[in-house]
Amino acid sequence: MYFLGLDVGTGGTRAVLIDENGKVVASASSEHEPFRTPYPGWAEQDPEDWWRAAQTAIREVLAASGVAASDIGAAGLTGQMHGAVMLDSEGKVLRPSLIWCDQRTGPQCDWLHEQIGRERLIELTCNPALPNFTLTKLLWVREHEPDIFSRIAHILCPKDYVRYRMTGTYAIDVQEASGTLLLDVTNRRWSSEVARVAGIDEAWLPQLFESPEVCAHISAEASASTGLVAGMPVVAGAGDQGAGAVGMGILQPGSVSATIGTSGVVFAATAAPTKDPLGRLHTFCHAVPGRWHVMGVTQAAGLSLRWLRDVIAPGANYDALTAEAEQVPAGSDGLLWAPYLLGERTPHLDSQATAAFYGITASHTRGHLIRSVLEGVAYSLKDTFTLFAELGIPVKGVRLGGGGARGPLWRSIQASVYGYPSDILEAEEGAAFGAALLAGVGAGAWPDTDAACATAIRVAEQIAPEASEERSYADGYKMYRRLYPALRAIREGV
Ligand code: XUL
Repeated sequence: MYFLGLDVGTGGTRAVLIDENGKVVASASSEHEPFRTPYPGWAEQDPEDWWRAAQTAIREVLAASGVAASDIGAAGLTGQMHGAVMLDSEGKVLRPSLIWCDQRTGPQCDWLHEQIGRERLIELTCNPALPNFTLTKLLWVREHEPDIFSRIAHILCPKDYVRYRMTGTYAIDVQEASGTLLLDVTNRRWSSEVARVAGIDEAWLPQLFESPEVCAHISAEASASTGLVAGMPVVAGAGDQGAGAVGMGILQPGSVSATIGTSGVVFAATAAPTKDPLGRLHTFCHAVPGRWHVMGVTQAAGLSLRWLRDVIAPGANYDALTAEAEQVPAGSDGLLWAPYLLGERTPHLDSQATAAFYGITASHTRGHLIRSVLEGVAYSLKDTFTLFAELGIPVKGVRLGGGGARGPLWRSIQASVYGYPSDILEAEEGAAFGAALLAGVGAGAWPDTDAACATAIRVAEQIAPEASEERSYADGYKMYRRLYPALRAIREGV
């Protein structure tokens, strides 16, 4: 028996097929059209393009694996979170989706806080209003495109739209739903109070499921276009952060991951919903029934390094750049990077924040610039560890993931900046892999997610913090913490 995981990302859709040992037997991807930015801060994609890419990736993974579709027991979905997909009563897409990184909805966040009260909103949904969250995007459409808003009959997140095309079913999992700002995260059900005050008809919301639950089956139409067998079960799955955590075995309270992709996320599994009264962390339902998670997000993590490369060494490969950074001592001789290229979520919740280098002298080289970017991104992720300590969220172990875990330098900077021994996994296959494990649980191959991860996930190596570097980074982090307030004061003219 095999299980299919499908990740409807921002850049593309990726399909992976795993066997009952949790081993990846094949994977395939299909790129999306890049998101459109007709005005600064806007980000839109066409749901139909995700479905096109999903069909291609599924057909290709079947062909590459040679596995018979009848041997696939179930599929699980994951994807970019928070995007708003609006459908009419016939299930037709009403307008392009405003996706997770669209920043236009500041005024709608303010409106929600005025209507409900910021504290009450955090009480109800565990989170404050942020432009990333789905509800704020719906409110923008109501204000600016009332004709479209009046035709809404269904609201979905990106991967759930792909599920709808695969199965004809409107469904969502509680982890993804947590990022809509319409979920009562504590009780794992829609918040009637938020929906009522915000003017969202609860009938528009899809049915809620736990992540490993079977919620739909492949339709005859989708069977014809993908090659999957009609009637095959589809589990609810989870947003990319939830499924990614399953794929890294971050399930038990105390286990934590630090993942550096385009953005950077520090994710901790918790036994209960742990709210930050100031709303600096996201508090969501986990993809594991009966558990929750918190996470802090650095908007421009890997993106900081890509940006620097494109500006100072276009086309250079990352290994060559980090080799230059290796020649520079820990602490980059006082050079600091504040990574706010796309505003910032954790801990500042400031979509207007901008990035800066601080402390440049004539003796700094290109290697210093590169190293300070690697260190600045790690400091930014450390801000989330600092919040965990403040809120009493336990950290028993850290696993590193994403591009930031691939090279030796960024790994060791992270271990020494965070101050925890940090595990590297044998094979890190990302969110699609986590979704495939959830599918296996739904199909009964494993009794639960813990058992699935115990079979499928192995630690390859542990990176220990370096005592002498830890001291330089502790000093560097103290200085780094002073940067944001100073940058904000400059911006505000105070
Ligand atoms: C999570 C988040 C991103 C998106 C895009 O809160 O915004 O991880 O899901 O991948």
